[in-house]
Amino acid sequence: MAYLVAPDDWDCKMIGVVYSIHALAHGEYEWKDPESEEEVVRITYIDKDGKRTEVKGKVGDNVLYLAHRYGVEMEGACEASLACTTCHVYVHGEHIDKLPEAEEKEEDLLDLAPFLRENSRLGCQIILKKEYDGMVLELPKATRNFYVDGHKPAAH
Ligand code: FES
Repeated sequence: MAYLVAPDDWDCKMIGVVYSIHALAHGEYEWKDPESEEEVVRITYIDKDGKRTEVKGKVGDNVLYLAHRYGVEMEGACEASLACTTCHVYVHGEHIDKLPEAEEKEEDLLDLAPFLRENSRLGCQIILKKEYDGMVLELPKATRNFYVDGHKPAAH
């Protein structure tokens, strides 16, 4: 186990940011199994070919990294930094109404996503809660990666 020792001039917010970046970069949390039934959130992914993958997630899991754990092809090119649409998903049924409102940046990106629907969201912005148990997430036929495809090298 590694410990972070902060210099005297760091405040707690800074430590939180460092920890969050570390956690998001690796998606380590999603590789831990639920410790109790109260934590369990069952999710079904449907890939672009219609293949269903049922997984047992847990409260606090990011559905992008959970998909990676179970081999579901949700790309996530920008590592959840809201700079692409490769984590685009359709949220089936009543679960779309249970999610928090999308932030403006997520809305802006979704407006540029191919095959946009009313139930479109960015998977990397969905963090599991118990009330999401039974949620079905379907991947679109294709996604667009602005993060790499849209990258224009700066002039030197
Ligand atoms: S992984 Fe890029 S916005 Fe979700």
